[in-house]
Amino acid sequence: MGDPEYQVHPDIRQAHTLPARIYRDPAIYETFAERIFARTWQFVADTDQVRVPGQIYPCTLLEGCLDEPVLLTRDARDVLHCLSNVCTHRGHLVAEHAGIERVLRCRYHGRRFGLDGTFQHMPEFEGVEGFPGPCEDLPRIPLGQWGKFLFVALKPAHSLQELIAPLQERLGWLPLEQFRFDPARSREFLIRANWALYVENYLDGLHIPFVHQELAGSLDYSAYVTELYRYAVLQLGVAQSGEDRFDLPVSSPDRGKHVAAYYYWLFPNTMFNFYPWGLSINVVRPVGVDRTRVLFLRYTWDAARIGSGIGDDAAVDRVEREDEVVVENVQRGIRSRYYHCGRYSPSRETGTHHFHRLLAEFGLEGAGA
Ligand code: FES
Ligand SMILES: [Fe+2]
Repeated sequence: MGDPEYQVHPDIRQAHTLPARIYRDPAIYETFAERIFARTWQFVADTDQVRVPGQIYPCTLLEGCLDEPVLLTRDARDVLHCLSNVCTHRGHLVAEHAGIERVLRCRYHGRRFGLDGTFQHMPEFEGVEGFPGPCEDLPRIPLGQWGKFLFVALKPAHSLQELIAPLQERLGWLPLEQFRFDPARSREFLIRANWALYVENYLDGLHIPFVHQELAGSLDYSAYVTELYRYAVLQLGVAQSGEDRFDLPVSSPDRGKHVAAYYYWLFPNTMFNFYPWGLSINVVRPVGVDRTRVLFLRYTWDAARIGSGIGDDAAVDRVEREDEVVVENVQRGIRSRYYHCGRYSPSRETGTHHFHRLLAEFGLEGAGA
């Protein structure tokens, strides 16, 4: 077992939070990159970005944290792949731009691969012994799909299915294929705080009446529920009467409730927020020990309902700014010589407690100070 300081008691009433140094120590930040981010599912794109055979989409997985160049492709047989985007010759990037291609050709010395990553040809290599071997292919990276949403994991500790199951069971009735990405409504924020502070604020129901007074006025706080799953947390936003809410099908276990939002967090850094108008996927990207980029990727389902209820863009952006202020203040607070750790509210901080338990399980077991 590791250092007891890095463990969180399973009983929230006895538990102390993790030590403040996890949010400011560059060595722990690096450890989390390998132990947490390299082993979990990262949202990368939707199928519209690789919609037709031949389409390719290069990207860097978590720039500033994992920095892993990957390439999504759809081959001629209509099969999707995620490949390492690093040429097996001398390490140049294989694809530099999204587009449509018949083959992948590295522009440094002309090595060629199929869209499934198979090595095809290399100029001036006649006479090289034992060439080509299987290690000349572009390595394949685990790729998973839920609806139209694509996830990648470098060394997955669990299946995407295990991560997504709670959403699928609860919201499988939503026609995700009809959701359309809306770049004009999407946002990007740079936050001067550690990524884990941003996540735990999202999971914390306790701060809502203090920090988000307008939101609190639209929510029925007494009916606000937090549900814990192995790798996910659901917060169910129940509306005050008069607010827009989901028209739930008979099959939904929530039928009869005035659900205005399903806030799903997926370990470690993805949020799927469903509103009656559609979905905001929030991706929390660590870019340094005290810098975090947060994307709000909005997908419209029912455009007529944009602008109503607690999922209204302006209201959500306001909540974001309110959160940004407190999270950045906490980043300043945790540098103090006097703050070490805290305790949890058993009624309103179960999500934060669950997140800290996962952080300890993945990132800190066996870690020393
Ligand atoms: S690095 Fe790609 S062909 Fe040489
Ligand atoms: Fe908040």
